[in-house]
Amino acid sequence: MNPVRTVDDLTGPRPLPMVGNLVQMRTDRAGHRVYDRWAHEYGPTYLLRFGKMPIVVSGDGPIVEAVLRDRPDGFTRTRVGPVLESLGVDGVFGAEGATWRRLRKMAARSLSGAYLRDYFTAVARSAARLHARWTAAAQAGAPVDVLDDVRRFTLDVSTALAIGHDLNSLGTAGDGLHSRLAELFPEVGRRLYAPVPLHRFVTLPRDRRREATIREVGALVRERHAQARARMATGAAPATFLEALVAPLDDEREFTHEELVGNVLTMMLAGQDTTSSLIAWTLHHLAEDPDTQERVRAEAATVLREFGPPADPAALRGLRHTDAAIQESLRLRPVVPVMGFRPTRHTVLHGTGYDLSLPAGQSILLLLSHGARAVPDPDEFRPKRWFGTMTAQPFFPFGAGPRFCPGHNLALLEATLVVGLACRDFRMAPDGGKVGEKLAFTAFPTALRLRPQLRPEAAGATRR
Ligand code: HEM
Repeated sequence: MNPVRTVDDLTGPRPLPMVGNLVQMRTDRAGHRVYDRWAHEYGPTYLLRFGKMPIVVSGDGPIVEAVLRDRPDGFTRTRVGPVLESLGVDGVFGAEGATWRRLRKMAARSLSGAYLRDYFTAVARSAARLHARWTAAAQAGAPVDVLDDVRRFTLDVSTALAIGHDLNSLGTAGDGLHSRLAELFPEVGRRLYAPVPLHRFVTLPRDRRREATIREVGALVRERHAQARARMATGAAPATFLEALVAPLDDEREFTHEELVGNVLTMMLAGQDTTSSLIAWTLHHLAEDPDTQERVRAEAATVLREFGPPADPAALRGLRHTDAAIQESLRLRPVVPVMGFRPTRHTVLHGTGYDLSLPAGQSILLLLSHGARAVPDPDEFRPKRWFGTMTAQPFFPFGAGPRFCPGHNLALLEATLVVGLACRDFRMAPDGGKVGEKLAFTAFPTALRLRPQLRPEAAGATRR
């Protein structure tokens, strides 16, 4: 039997009067790195104070997994639900209880493997546009803002699957809906980590712009709604998330317009920032590691023989080096490193070395990927470690249990295609300058510019 520890038994960094540990947490823009350092110093489960409020933090594999699996009844998400609601983005991610169960079925259905083939048309179309953009940059000898370009790509894909609309942000300049949404999404992180919820008391110009953006998405949803209903009335299978939301159900009320908009925005948000960070980090690490980039290039040249994106996602199977580079990037640069939860009742969690007793309502922050650091030379980018037996502690970049990320297959498909095509046709070279990392709900690279240089074979193909 493990000994039992209570919240009061936990140690952690010494809190300052009034503010607790809030100041120490702000020593790094990538806040999760601070959490990881403390886990190293105080053990994988430790205590922080936000002001006077005690917050348990845990990166202990068994505890993280137990919390993730005990949902929706045992644990709920903290803060993110109300924050998303305050922004008009309330949907499946922030929902709990019966509402979540209903929405989850629809989200899982529209993102299931059966539909990936259909989505692949949209994924391949957007990948071709990204490729054209980087070809133009290579021909002009210009660097590319990788994260911005890839965010356009992932937004186009998630908008296509959410409502069947081709946003084509890769084809437009900075004034498209893409650039307005770019203002909305960081606000989630800002409100989530703000020590004082200023947005409740002050309306800033950016809040008014955000409301206008939501009205714009609302107009798009309204435009698509009638078509979606008409198609679902024929008994056809839903082909988009919106269609799944409006498909007739015997025993449930219909969703209101605001609920539809909130859910569509949730899907756009969940699919955009996450996957774009993964792709951008992978390309960054490959640019810094020309040998691995060459291995990815060589296999992509064999597997993806046609010049453009392949017509069938099955073609991507067998990109082993690409896949290992993506996994290693996710290990080194977790996209969703921290998530907050709260038990609905008194709970004892079985941890490593001791069990942890949590009273109902006690906040616990999970370091989803802390286990990923338990490998030799954890800060080194070594995709090859994925070919042997990984000895890391369990880690959960896509969550686990009933709320496991329903978009993970789509995310990996998008990442494999973009990384494979980029390395096949371009030598992705660093542009100099220091690349940073920032946490704003998702963790992403900052100031990441690369110089794509067209490879001779690809240069020939573009002229044909
Ligand atoms: C690298 C890419 C991605 C990462 C790292 C990621 C990570 C996550 C994580 C950690 C969660 C929380 C899981 C949990 O609570 O157990 C989540 C939930 C979710 N993700 Fe993803 N995600 C990615 C891509 C996507 C994509 C492409 C979509 C859809 C277009 C998507 C849609 C969702 C949705 C709807 C949820 C909420 C599920 C629920 O609460 O039931 N994600 N994701």
